[in-house]
Amino acid sequence: MQRIPDTPFPTFLVETQESANALLADEITALLSERSGRLVLGLATGSSPVGLYAELVRRFKEDWGDLSFVKTFNLDEYRGLPTGHPASYQTFMTKHLFSKINLGTEHVHFPPTEANDFDAACAAWEETIRSAGGIDWQLLGVGRNGHIGFNEPASPFDSRTRRVELAESTRAANARFFDSADEVPTEAVTMGIGTILEAKRLRVLAFGETKAEILASVLRGEDDSSIPLNALRRHPDTALYIDAAAAARLG
Ligand code: GLP
Repeated sequence: MQRIPDTPFPTFLVETQESANALLADEITALLSERSGRLVLGLATGSSPVGLYAELVRRFKEDWGDLSFVKTFNLDEYRGLPTGHPASYQTFMTKHLFSKINLGTEHVHFPPTEANDFDAACAAWEETIRSAGGIDWQLLGVGRNGHIGFNEPASPFDSRTRRVELAESTRAANARFFDSADEVPTEAVTMGIGTILEAKRLRVLAFGETKAEILASVLRGEDDSSIPLNALRRHPDTALYIDAAAAARLG
């Protein structure tokens, strides 16, 4: 692994996605032991974290034993999908992680997707994060347009958990998880950028050629606050891990 020079926040080129996954799993292992298992994790979906979740499951089976005191908060969820829809983020997390480790079900949290008073439900959800002591370690992926969670371009850096409309480019990028492009919801709920920036550590994975263009504009460009990924410049403990395909346009 090699640190890429002259980037606005720590960015590492990894030889393989597995090496990034092992490194992040090592961090979680160390935190679990420091906190005697009482860890608060912020989790992400998409294709980037799949290998990390497989590695966490492997370690759980090998030597972690008990994760029943770990609390999790997922970044985002689609709105309007029925419970159990194969493309929902709850289904994704159940499949890749939650069904394979022994989290307490009462410790797993997703932002609200339906409520009479949606703003109040989002505020209550943020209060749940605060009363858990805040997020110790937050995983993020990067959208092709630079989104984090479902904070699309031009989301304010002080935004909180809220309902959002998805960019057409995001719906197109995520159509691969649905039977047809029309089925992709137009709305979602996401932790805000301000919420994300309150996590104690941010760890970001961006793999593959579809991320090369946005990474070049963030890592080699001006501090453009309309691109959510640039919010990472405002966090004291952040690290981005990218593979050679994602780094292809850095020059
Ligand atoms: C979705 C999620 C994001 C994620 C992004 C990238 O849009 N809402 O949180 O970062 O996908 O996904 P991938 O890792 O598949 O490129």
